Amino acid sequence: MKTRPAIRTERLLLRPFSLADIEPTWRYRQLDEVVTWTGSWITSLDEWSERATSLVGTLMIIEHDGDIVGDMKYAQQDGWGQGGTDPEAVRGAEVELGWTIDPAHAGRGYATEAARGLLGHAFDTLGVRRAVAYAFADNAPSVRIMEKLGMRREFFTKEDSFHKTRGWIDGVGYGMLAREWREQHAESRSGASGG
Ligand SMILES: CC(C)(COP(=O)(O)OP(=O)(O)OC[C@H]1O[C@@H](n2cnc3c(N)ncnc32)[C@H](O)[C@@H]1OP(=O)(O)O)[C@@H](O)C(=O)NCCC(=O)NCCS
Repeated sequence: MKTRPAIRTERLLLRPFSLADIEPTWRYRQLDEVVTWTGSWITSLDEWSERATSLVGTLMIIEHDGDIVGDMKYAQQDGWGQGGTDPEAVRGAEVELGWTIDPAHAGRGYATEAARGLLGHAFDTLGVRRAVAYAFADNAPSVRIMEKLGMRREFFTKEDSFHKTRGWIDGVGYGMLAREWREQHAESRSGASGG
């Protein structure tokens, strides 16, 4: 698996997660307000250690001024291909993004800035054709991030997800194509120049 380079945004450094990051990220990964909204309800450092180890290569650490403020899933994966087509046609065609910010650092736009940095890297450097992100529908800040990023809501699933404390709840999925990213950025470039 290729090691990802570090990526800088206006305020943040995004760098690949390493095993040394397990304990520092556990500080916020164990909080109720975090695990409530993540895909796995992890209850011990051992569990987090096992899960995080399996995510090396797909997790990025978000740093601000040298402090870890969160982490992001940044997983490149194959696109869906009809059986019988050349697997190379869909190889590495997509990235999935997911965000977690330490509540002590939330509300400052870090998740949006980090995700935008990774979308830029995915489309402009990796050359993927589609980015996706998923959330529980009640996770208003997460849904807001997807909208702020200019992603399109692609699905709303009614009570499809069994949540540990809330029972069957709704889900949402958002997507963005490389050409949509370029269109949006062409617009913002022409807007910035007053054109
Ligand atoms: C969701 C999370 C990543 C947000 O991080 P963040 O750095 O605070 O996000 P940002 O500041 O970039 O953007 C959050 C947006 O949601 C908005 N928001 C916050 N709480 C909200 C609420 N209850 N209802 C609606 N919008 C809300 C913010 O105002 C902001 O939008 P704005 O810029 O238009 O004002 C963070 O709270 C977190 O890690 N939560 C727990 C884990 C989690 O939910 N992970 C995502 C799983 S899909």
